[in-house]
Formats: sequence, C-alpha cells, structure tokens
Amino acid sequence: MAYHRLDGQRTSLVFDLRGAVPVCCYWGSRLADDLPLSAFDQLHWQPKPPAVLDAPVGLTLLPENGRGWWGQPALRGSRAGRHWSNAFTLAESDLGAAAVRFTLVDAAAQLTVQLRLDLDRVTDVLRQRCVLINTGTRDYHLEWCAAATFPLPPEVNEILMFEGRWAKEFGVRRQPFPTGALIQDNTRGRTSHAAFPGAVVGRQGFDESGGTVYGFHLGWSGNHRTIVERTSEGWRQIQLGERLMPGEVILGPGQRYLSPSAYACCAEGMNELSVAFHGYMRAHILPTQVARTPRPVQYNTWEAVYFDHDLTVLKALASRAAALGVERFVLDDGWFSGRTDDGRALGDWTPDPMKYPQGLAPLIDHVNRCGMTFGLWAEPEMVSPDSDLYRRHPEWALNLDPLPRATGRHQLVLDLSLPAVSDYLFDRLHALLVAHPIVYLKWDMNRDLTTAGHDGRPAHHDQVTSLYALIDRLRQAHPDVEIETCASGGARVDFEILKRTHRVWISDSNDALERQQIQRGFSLFFPPEIMGCHVGPTHSHTSGRTLGLDFRGITAFGGHLGLELDLRTLRRGEIDDLKALIAIHKAHRDLLHGGRHLRLMPLDPQRSGWGAVALDRREAIYALMQVETPAPGASLRVTLPGLAPQTPYRVKPLLPGVETRTARTPTPPWYAEGLLATGELLAKAGLHVALPNPASGMLLKAVAEET
Ligand code: DGJ
Repeated sequence: MAYHRLDGQRTSLVFDLRGAVPVCCYWGSRLADDLPLSAFDQLHWQPKPPAVLDAPVGLTLLPENGRGWWGQPALRGSRAGRHWSNAFTLAESDLGAAAVRFTLVDAAAQLTVQLRLDLDRVTDVLRQRCVLINTGTRDYHLEWCAAATFPLPPEVNEILMFEGRWAKEFGVRRQPFPTGALIQDNTRGRTSHAAFPGAVVGRQGFDESGGTVYGFHLGWSGNHRTIVERTSEGWRQIQLGERLMPGEVILGPGQRYLSPSAYACCAEGMNELSVAFHGYMRAHILPTQVARTPRPVQYNTWEAVYFDHDLTVLKALASRAAALGVERFVLDDGWFSGRTDDGRALGDWTPDPMKYPQGLAPLIDHVNRCGMTFGLWAEPEMVSPDSDLYRRHPEWALNLDPLPRATGRHQLVLDLSLPAVSDYLFDRLHALLVAHPIVYLKWDMNRDLTTAGHDGRPAHHDQVTSLYALIDRLRQAHPDVEIETCASGGARVDFEILKRTHRVWISDSNDALERQQIQRGFSLFFPPEIMGCHVGPTHSHTSGRTLGLDFRGITAFGGHLGLELDLRTLRRGEIDDLKALIAIHKAHRDLLHGGRHLRLMPLDPQRSGWGAVALDRREAIYALMQVETPAPGASLRVTLPGLAPQTPYRVKPLLPGVETRTARTPTPPWYAEGLLATGELLAKAGLHVALPNPASGMLLKAVAEET
C-alpha cells in the first residue's frame, strides 16, 4: 500500500509509505472520505533546489543523517565510534484505522526501530512512542531517541512555549519560528518549573478561538528535550524526547529503549486544542477516581501553621474547616519525627513524638468525626543529611562522589533504583496507610537533581522509572488512596505522572493576581478538576500582596478548590462568604470539572477570564477577572463563547453580593432578574458588566431557557 490514513473527528493524517522510511504527507483538518490518496504522488513532488544532494532528502517520521538529512536526526548514538549515522528501511507495517506501527531496520548498524502511533478518534489526540532495539553483538551508546518527530506545515511561523520559576509557573512565551533549530533542554531531573515540555505552533496571531494550531507535549517527569527546527530548504519539524546524559543509556546486545510518549493534536484555535487535551486526559490518562468522584474541597495546613504543629490548634482548624463545608483535611509538612523546620528529618517517616505523643490517630479521629477525610503530606524521594535515615544510610543518596553532594532546601535525593530504598519507602508509607484512614497523599519533591549518579553513572532515567514503579506499587496496595503531585508547586506536571496522580499543586503562589497567569497557562494542557487552587491568606505569603476574599475566592473557584489560611483569623462576614463560595462550588462541580473549559479573550488586556460550558450546552459559568484598572481605550464588552447559537439563555451573576461589591459604578439592571439572549448574541455581540475595581472578579451563570 502506497498511502495510509488515520481519521479522527476533526483531523486526518496521511502517511506516504513509498520510500524507505514513512513520511507524514498530510496532517490537518479532516479530509473527505473517498479522497484518492494517490493524488499525493503529484501534489508532493519536490523540485530539487540547486546545490543540494542529487536525490534530496525530505523530512520523514525518522529523519536520519545517514541518508543526507542535514537537520536534527531522530536518533543519535554510536557503537564504539561506529554506526553513528543511520539509514533505516521499512521492514513491516501494521496499519489500523486508529493505530499504525512501523518497524524499521538498519541492518548495517544492527538497529531496529519501532514507531507506534495511536490516534484517539474522539479527541483527535495522537500519541507516539519509539522503541529502539540493539540487534548487534556489541553495546550501543544512545544519545538521543526522539519519542516522535512531527512534521509541521510550511505556513506555521510562530511558537508558543512555556517558561517559569518557583511561584511563577506556566508563563507562556511566543516567538517567531527559528531558522535552524531552537532547542529547549531540561536537565533538572523533574519536569521542572523552568521548561515545561509542551509547545503550540501555528500561523502568527493564532489565538484562543482561531488559527490552525498544533499542540505537543511529552509525558515524562525527568529530563527532556524539545527541538523545533526549520531547515534552509524549508522543512519544519518538532521532536520531543528524553534528554539523556552521556552514558545514561547503553543498550547491550538484544536490549531495547522505550521512549516516553509524546502527545500531539491539531485544532482550530487554542481553546479547541485544550478541550481536546482535557478530553483525552479524562478518557486515557487520569486515574478513574477523578471523573468518578466529585473533587472534595480541601483544607491544607501549610500556610496556617507551617512546622508549628499543635494538636489543639490543628483540631480547631479542622472544626472550622468542616463548618465551612470542607470535605478533606490535609496535614502538610511538619508532622514527622524531628521536623522542626526545613533543615532536617526528611526520611524519618514516623509521627513526631513531641508534637504527636499518641501518634496521628487523635487528629485523624477528630477530622473524621468532623465529617472530613484525612490526607497527609510526604516527600518520599528526599533525605535530610540531618536525619536518622541518612546517618544510617548515607550511601542511599544519589551522588557522584567525590563531587560535592550539593543540597537544595537542605536536602539530598534518595536513589530510588536501589531496591532497599524503594522497599524502605514503600514500607514506611504502607505502614501509615494501613495504620490510619488516610485517603490522600500530597507527594512533594522540593529540589532539582544535581550530581545524580549511581556507581558513577547518570541516574536520572532510572530515578524516574523507579518513582513511577514506587507509586504504582503503592497504588496497587491502596487503590483508593488519591495522590497529589507537588514539586515546590508545579515542577512535576506531565501526562505520565498524571496517570498515577489525581491532583496537581500547580504553584506555591496563593496570590490570586499571580494565579491568573499561572492557571491560564496550566489550562492549555490540563483540565480544571486536577488544578489545585487554594484560597490563601489576605496577605499573600509568597508576594506580600493584599487581596480581598472575593477575588481570592473567585480565582480558586473553578479548579479543585481548597483553603490554605489560618481559619482562626477569619471575620464573621468572611466566614459567611467562604461558606457560600464553597456551597456554590459544590453545587456546580459537575459543570466546572466535566464541561468544556474555555479561556476568554477580553478586549481589555487588564481583564482575564474563563468559561465552563456543559457538554450539552444547557448551562455555563463564566469568570470575569479584572486584574488591573481597565486599560485606557479598551472596550469593556465581554463575549461569552461556547453556547448553542439558537438557544436563549438567562444570564445572571452567580455569587450573590459579589457583583455589587465588585462594582465601582451602578450595576446593570439585568443583574437582578438576569438578561435573556441567544448563545449567538452572547458570543458575537457580548455584554457589559458594571465597571469593576482592579483585582476583582465576578461569576456569571448562563442557563438555557425552556422553549
Ligand atoms: C512545597 C509545597 O509546594 C508546599 O505546598 C508545602 O507542602 C511545602 N513544600 C512543605 O514543605
């Protein structure tokens, strides 16, 4: 067969199988069913530019220097200085309606590659992996093996990538397409704050609602590399894969390397792209509990008490949390033996006898009696040099002795690939989960990896796979326990960790102003039900900024809601407002966490917002956030996308009282009874709300009127 196609709901891919290595000759909007694919014979005939090879080499699914491709190859490695330049030939194809497998052989280099592509025909998300097999008799030193090489059409000329740091995650950066290669490398040993493995490309000016865009993500919680390239001949490609250290993967005879999975999707506008990725995650990535059980409203002790654990205070906080409607109480850092501050005790996972003379049971019993479930913080991969564990087993820490064992937050990283270490951690956590009704672990990870070696060799890859194995083992033993992925906030967020975790602590910043950008960036790839959002203190602990409760509450409202503040400091009115916020959130969880999440595009650049539209479009909630004073000259009209065009909707403020507190001008008359307009008018003509204060927000609810 010369061509093969995969079709989703909205998109098609066509593979040209005539050459030595398959080529993806089309990836874009859905093609007509009966299209004669042989037309590509003529359509994609390539003129030969001057001063290139006599038989010019184009971009394939496995670009290889050995055939004369000058761009970035998909595979890099060598066998004692040989076999570094490859030329594979397609040996076998397994061509299904939703999946293709290509087996390619380079007989001279004694290597076999399998490319596995799976198209989810509901969401149009494509998953791709690569398997490399050493069929030779000597070791093969692998340097780079792209999980996937995706071709990009010639019209794309703008890239959106992410940048971040602690308390400032998921910032987006847009830039023109490079000539040559743009390489984003992450060597921090976790997905990282700095370089999230994701990108969106399109034609300059693409936005939430328009422009054909291609989105990419690598599901891997360790080192990674993204290569975006435009060759001087005009080929455009993006490769994603694991960033390997020298000597990290040496394949012995018969051994194989399985790359992480790369995910990709083509859509019209970034909202459609996000809806596709969210739908894919709900169906194929997230543990089933996330969709099955409403996401419980949480209380987290961190910013209320830090390391200062006192049973009486914690019980008082639990009682107050329960009275507000909280459903799960999470005891954060500070509960275990010797943990007086962040300088010690990681690894000694038994309750501190001074703070908890009778263990955790009295607190957990109290929490349960208040009608809440109990969750516990842990940072299993870490060890403090000042800990009993380290004194017993200094050899358990990753190291490249005699290089310095550099600490981060005063801690070192345990070598999880050592069975004794994994067994120890499993036993400690298992013992806690067996002894107590703990339904939730906040799994933290507070430092990047440096000098991460075992026996002098790089340990990054094994560390990640051993972490997955440890969590999987624990989940097998305790299938109902939910896990939060936290790494100083959002430094470990990706599709692979999320196959085994249920919530993300996306940032240590509870500052609701900072959170506008962080949550918006997060929502590009990840759905709101796993987005940990806490109402923090009035004075933000990470920024010192002072923000009112309405703004903090509305900012957290759409995600997996939580509270993280000293509840003893709340005033009467604040208690009532928080109670109302939580009750209204609970009443709308299905919509917020199961609908289509759309980012709004307000005309005022100082405004931000999102919508959650029910899948049947009978109702929707929109959040309008005024970040700063409205920009001069900007229109304050807002449009509400995503509703059924012909259906009339009644639109009203959702949180009673907030709409007037927010306003600096008289409120529109329709606030009381709601306005009535069709989905088409709301999306195209839009509406005005009262002129809002800076750092304020409001929620609108649209409900279809019975006709
Ligand atoms: C970093 C986390 O992101 C915080 O929420 C908190 O759990 C601290 N670690 C505890 O040390």
